[in-house]
Amino acid sequence: MTAVDVISHNAEAWDNQVKNANQWTVPVSREEIDAARAGLFSILLTAKKPVPRDWFPKRLAGTKILCLASGGGQQAPILSATGAQVTVFDNSLAQLTQDRLVAQRENLPLKVVRGDMRDLHAFADGAFDLVFCPVSVTYIPEVQSVFDEVYRVLKKGGSFLFGATNPFVYIFDGPDWDQNRFTVSNQLPFCSLDELTPEQVSRVLREKETIQYSHTLERLIGGQTAAGFSITGFYEDVDDDLICRYAAKYFATRAVK
Ligand SMILES: C[S@@+](CC[C@H](N)C(=O)[O-])C[C@H]1O[C@@H](n2cnc3c(N)ncnc32)[C@H](O)[C@@H]1O
Repeated sequence: MTAVDVISHNAEAWDNQVKNANQWTVPVSREEIDAARAGLFSILLTAKKPVPRDWFPKRLAGTKILCLASGGGQQAPILSATGAQVTVFDNSLAQLTQDRLVAQRENLPLKVVRGDMRDLHAFADGAFDLVFCPVSVTYIPEVQSVFDEVYRVLKKGGSFLFGATNPFVYIFDGPDWDQNRFTVSNQLPFCSLDELTPEQVSRVLREKETIQYSHTLERLIGGQTAAGFSITGFYEDVDDDLICRYAAKYFATRAVK
């Protein structure tokens, strides 16, 4: 692979996604905030299926929550409107700007911190009751440091809600997939640059398209238990992609320290 600072590249790529109004960058409405204030909230770790209410503590008011790699003015402002004490952490300035905009618009006490999710030194040991991390580890080359750091910043008994893409989707050839053909061609773990020609790699770097990593189930699930977590909940989810007629593309875990 071309020597590239993937973390900085993907931060700029997500700034671009904000410009392009990618659905994971569009701030929530006033109505959604009002509903959350009234105790009715629904948020996503994956594509469509809301996170079960019983994955959160019964009483959210005062709960210390870290929304990790979860910018975009979506989950963090909603959780803040429930009365939780929320910190949103992300590497994309534009994604964090979306959170700031909603916080100002709705007068929410949301804390916003920029950084790489693999290094949470900004937070003390045991600082949070809950860490919420939607489908974001797709954009980093290794995940164990995230699980180890999340374990450190959680209190004992705290929970880690985590969404991910099922690695199997990356075995298929990307250009064929664009034509709705599923050709098995890639080995896992896979990086989206692996299947590209040097010219295509240059385009991804120049146009600031995201660089993605499949990881493996062993790393995504086994990595959590290796960090010390017990997994207490699991579900799968789909989106509108043709592949979801065959298998679920996403999964979510609830893990407890
Ligand atoms: C799919 S979006 C998730 C946010 C979205 N609100 C959601 O509902 O899923 C992926 C997020 O991960 C962030 N991200 C990617 N790499 C990161 C890193 N190394 N550290 C922190 N955040 C990162 C991106 O900036 C982006 O906001």
